Amino acid sequence: MQGRGGNDAARGSCAADRAETSYRSSFPDTTMTIPLTMTIPLTNRLIGRSAAIHGLRDEVSCAARSDAKVLITGESGVGKEVAARLVHDQSARRNGPFVPINCAGVPETLLEAELFGHVRGSFTDAYRDRAGVLESAHRGSIFLDEIGEMSLRMQGLLLRFLETGEIQRIGAGRAGAAVDARVIAATNRPLREHVEEGSFRTDLYYRLNVLSIYLPPLRERRSDIPILVRRFIRDLSAQHDRPFPGLSAEADRSRQTRLRWPARPLAT
Ligand SMILES: Nc1ncnc2c1ncn2[C@@H]1O[C@H](COP(=O)(O)OP(=O)(O)O)[C@@H](O)[C@H]1O
Ligand SMILES: [Mg+2]
Repeated sequence: MQGRGGNDAARGSCAADRAETSYRSSFPDTTMTIPLTMTIPLTNRLIGRSAAIHGLRDEVSCAARSDAKVLITGESGVGKEVAARLVHDQSARRNGPFVPINCAGVPETLLEAELFGHVRGSFTDAYRDRAGVLESAHRGSIFLDEIGEMSLRMQGLLLRFLETGEIQRIGAGRAGAAVDARVIAATNRPLREHVEEGSFRTDLYYRLNVLSIYLPPLRERRSDIPILVRRFIRDLSAQHDRPFPGLSAEADRSRQTRLRWPARPLAT
């Protein structure tokens, strides 16, 4: 993807200009910042050339050949959602929906309604019957992101769905039709420790962790950094209609060796 540089004068001061300032100020020092106005698009493949990435591509293809539940672990920003989408896209369910839901930061009652749906009149704003995301994922995959944040009560409800395959919408007297959704979950938490502490159900942990995929942080696969940086800057340049500014060898070296890369490859 190549950025197009035209119409600069007409555009005046805009996010793209700030972006360019930001690219420029990042060279050759190591304090590159991406303005909050920019988002890195979710890629449709795992970019990188490290042995770890090659191994991960194999694990993803292997998971895609089965219909088993997958638990994806790794720090924030390592590409767990990219991997989950790839498992779906390469699986026999690829023509069905891929439905992501973030289990963190959503109040429990809202998460329950989001997951299971509700019937009309079951709470104040429930004006009509509504399907939850589990139902929407029928014949496709549901991606339960940040599953480690789920309350014990929600874990119990999820477990019941996993055991029976049936959904009971909030306010419904009984379970509805069976739902056929492949479950892919992800977490940046040490779930096994949570199991030992008692904050994550053992039975749910084993139900979800049939296939496990671990994505190591970027600091443990530094050879992926130049290729990721190039890809992101290229995407951002295209997004903001700017020419790709290029990267010096020195910038590559500093990013690879001097930064600590705690979690995210780039701030998003
Ligand atoms: N190896 C990778 N290949 C391609 N894109 C990646 C890779 N690692 C991270 N990203 C990008 O970084 C951002 C964060 O990735 P995401 O999958 O949401 O991480 P996580 O779910 O682990 O927090 C996304 O824009 C994603 O496209
Ligand atoms: Mg994520």
